[in-house]
Amino acid sequence: MAAKIIKGAEIAKQIREELKVEVEEMKDKDGTVPGLVTILVGENPASQSYVRAKTATAKELGFHSVQDNQPADMSEEALLKLIDKYNKDSSIHGILVQLPLPKHINETKVLYAIDPDKDVDGFHPVNVGKLMIGTADFLPCTPHGIQELLVRSGARMEGAEVVVVGRSNIVGKPIANMLLQKGPGANATVTVVHTRTRDIAFHTKRADVLIVAAGVAEYVKGDMIKEGAYVIDVGVNEVGRTAEGKRILKGDVEFDSCAEKAAAITPVPGGVGPMTITMLMKNTVKAARIKR
Ligand SMILES: NC(=O)c1ccc[n+]([C@@H]2O[C@H](COP(=O)([O-])OP(=O)(O)OC[C@H]3O[C@@H](n4cnc5c(N)ncnc54)[C@H](OP(=O)(O)O)[C@@H]3O)[C@@H](O)[C@H]2O)c1
Repeated sequence: MAAKIIKGAEIAKQIREELKVEVEEMKDKDGTVPGLVTILVGENPASQSYVRAKTATAKELGFHSVQDNQPADMSEEALLKLIDKYNKDSSIHGILVQLPLPKHINETKVLYAIDPDKDVDGFHPVNVGKLMIGTADFLPCTPHGIQELLVRSGARMEGAEVVVVGRSNIVGKPIANMLLQKGPGANATVTVVHTRTRDIAFHTKRADVLIVAAGVAEYVKGDMIKEGAYVIDVGVNEVGRTAEGKRILKGDVEFDSCAEKAAAITPVPGGVGPMTITMLMKNTVKAARIKR
C-alpha cells in the first residue's frame, strides 16, 4: 500500500489539545468560559449518541456544557421559545439543535431562529452567505474538518485541481466554496460533480484532491483516481452488522484499490468523522471570543 493514511482521530486530538490551552487562556484572562448547549428533541438513538459525544467533548475541554433533552411531542412554538431563551443567555455562546427533528417541527424555521452569532453549526443563511463571500465566522463543521485534514497532512491546495463528488448543503457545496476562496488552505480550482454529471470518472481522474461525499458505499474505485492524489472519503455507509450486532461501516471510496494509487487517503471510520465534533468545539471557542 503506497498511500499515507490521514489519521483523523489523531489530528482531531491534536486540535482538541490546542483548544484546551486556548480555553485555559481565556479563563485566566477574563474568566470567559465557552458555553455550548445541545438541544435534543425526542429519543432517536443515533441522535442521542451524537449529543452525548458532543456534550462529553465540551466538558473534556473545560466548557460550560448543557445538554437539553426535550420530549418528542414538544411543539414547534415551545422549541422556538427555548432557542430564544438560549439566544439571550450570556453564558451560552453556541447553540446546537440536533437534526433530524420530529416531523411536526419545521427544521428550517428552527435553524433560522438561532442567533447567527451563536450558530456554531454554521447552517444559518447569514453564515452560509458569509462563507460564500469569504468572511465566515463559523465554517460548517464537516467541511471545516476536511480542510484541516488536508492542510495538516501537507496537501498543496494553492492551484490544485479539486473535485468534489456530491453537492449537498452540509458537505459538497460548502467545501467547494471554502476551497475556492482566496487565502491559505484554499486557492484551488474546484469542480463539483453529482448525479447529473455526464462523465464522473473523467473529472475524478484529473483531481489532485478528491473529496467524496455521495453516500454510496465504495463508489469511487482505484481506476477513477489519479496517481498521487489526496483522497478524502466523507461517506459513512452501514453495509451490515457483525454477529455481535456492531455496525459495519464503509466509506464512499473503495479503500484498498484507491490506497494503491493515492498519495494520501482517509480511512472510514477514523478519517473525517472524528473531525466534525472537534470543529464544533473550535467554533464554540470562537463564538466565546467574539462575544467578549
Ligand atoms: N463523517 C461525517 O462527519 C459526515 C458528515 C456528513 C455526512 N457524512 C456522510 O457523507 C455522505 C454524504 O452526505 P451528504 O449529507 O452530503 O449526502 P446527500 O445529502 O445524500 O448528498 C449526496 C450527494 O451526492 C450525490 N450523489 C449521490 N450518488 C451519486 C452518484 N452515484 N454519482 C454522483 N453523485 C452522486 C448527490 O447528487 P444529486 O444532488 O444529484 O442527488 C448529492 O449531491 C453520507 O454517507 C453521509 O453519511 C459524514
